[in-house]
Amino acid sequence: MLSIVVLISGTGSNLKALLEACDNPLYPAKVLAVGADRAAEGLEHAELFDKTTFVVQPESFDSKDEWAKVLASNIDIHQPDLIVLAGFMRVLPKSFVDRYYPRIINLHPSLLPKFPGAHAVRDALAAGADETGSTIHIVDAGVDTGPIIAQQSMAIAPGIGEHELHEQIKKIEKQQLVKTIESIANGEIKLEEIAA
Ligand code: GRF
Repeated sequence: MLSIVVLISGTGSNLKALLEACDNPLYPAKVLAVGADRAAEGLEHAELFDKTTFVVQPESFDSKDEWAKVLASNIDIHQPDLIVLAGFMRVLPKSFVDRYYPRIINLHPSLLPKFPGAHAVRDALAAGADETGSTIHIVDAGVDTGPIIAQQSMAIAPGIGEHELHEQIKKIEKQQLVKTIESIANGEIKLEEIAA
């Protein structure tokens, strides 16, 4: 059974999809705890599924490294096999990434390396792209630069707005997240090999 700590910043719809999948006794992963960098709305999903939650806000620390150290100690209590960033909108310092590499994965709403950063959906629309998609990758010390684990593309409907397009991408992200974690858990996807 693959054990996971999920980190979020927002609504947590991907977290919810993962919690629902883990509720099936045949699914080979379990969420141990959910952390956030703010009082994120999505923590409600964790509470509904009786998961431990923790919030570690960067504003409470003098440096990013100090913040990340406390974040890491909250994670290490649970000794997870994997850390999943599901809409966690902070760049983690190298000290944190090195501590867990390659066991942190991130969801990103574009076909990386296209449109990294916090406004991937907006940037794809502004560039006039006719397709986009979702990516799951191993987190390294860059911004959305780590080794790619899975990608799925989709067409961008002409005239679609940012919010609607992001919702369409989130639908494929959820399936991709649940499937990718299942494959990591059963050994079909080996993070060490992808990272090598
Ligand atoms: C997702 O699109 C994810 O790729 C991005 O942030 C969004 C989080 O959505 N990093 P939600 O909080 O899971 O609804």
